[in-house]
Amino acid sequence: MLETAPSRSSAALPLPEIYARVERHIPPLEWPVFAGDIAEILRLKQEKNAVVLAHNYQTPDIFHTVADIVGDSLALAREAARTDARVIVLAGVHFMAETAKLLNPGKTVLIPDLEAGCSLAASITAADIRLLRERHPRVPIVSYVNTSAAVKAESDVCCTSANAKKIVEALGAPRVIMLPDEYLAHNTAAQTKVEIIAWQGHCEVHERFTADDVKSLRESHPGVIVLAHPECPPEVVAQCDFTGSTAAMADYVGKQRPARVVLLTECSMSDNVALQYPDLEFVRPCNLCPHMKRITLPKIRRALETMTHEVTVDPDIAERARRAVERMLALG
Ligand code: 13P
Ligand code: SF4
Repeated sequence: MLETAPSRSSAALPLPEIYARVERHIPPLEWPVFAGDIAEILRLKQEKNAVVLAHNYQTPDIFHTVADIVGDSLALAREAARTDARVIVLAGVHFMAETAKLLNPGKTVLIPDLEAGCSLAASITAADIRLLRERHPRVPIVSYVNTSAAVKAESDVCCTSANAKKIVEALGAPRVIMLPDEYLAHNTAAQTKVEIIAWQGHCEVHERFTADDVKSLRESHPGVIVLAHPECPPEVVAQCDFTGSTAAMADYVGKQRPARVVLLTECSMSDNVALQYPDLEFVRPCNLCPHMKRITLPKIRRALETMTHEVTVDPDIAERARRAVERMLALG
């Protein structure tokens, strides 16, 4: 099973054992291209007392070799709050690194590429939230973690795709504002009696999946089990067999062992899960997240060598944003 937040340090493993984890993905001839960076990253992690937290969308050469903790956004936030390491390298996108920094103000948090953004985080500003508050006074604001710290600072609580329903219901309010992902808001509204006011942000990766895609997949691959991330449009979610966060989809595969499965989400997710289940057939329509793909092994190595790019958050914003993240961790 793909762990949601395991400690999976490779530090003590010889390189051939690390290669064994990815040999079905990286041909032997190509391994030397990766091996030097991997060995150096493992050495630098020890020297600098650093951990690498990697999101499920990182490529297998990162995910299965240098990552200490892997998981969905919720797991990475939880583990960021727990780690004893002095340095956190976030192999993921900027909002994930910012969340790690909010929970670890005294630690050094590095992101290997500062341009690793997110179309959802870019779809809303703190000023937008203040306007929403004026328009809907007394309606709690639930911000997806895929937002900037400045947006989190104006929000009552955060949520992830793993706990959205739980957080919305835990507030005990008849109506909530849930932003910025319109589809996550609609998909959550379909599971609860709480009325949800949505924003019109979309994930550029998941918005591209259509209900017709699901139909064609079922026709071309009889018996395929279709899993979809809740950032997909509601008509896609309505056609699938299961919807959940990246970690929930991986757990589903591990528990249900569908003989033939498709994950309607970012490409590397299937690559990572498929490496763990060689007996299952993964159908792989591929939508790449260009932001996640900015993170590479050479950039992780450089981040540790030069201790850049350090993620910082204005202290006033950080204090308020931390409250929203910690409230989420306490509720769900
Ligand atoms: P998860 O929290 O489900 O891992 O999703 C994060 C994300 O960015 C999905 O596009
Ligand atoms: Fe953002 Fe979508 Fe990329 Fe996730 S997949 S980081 S939501 S753009």
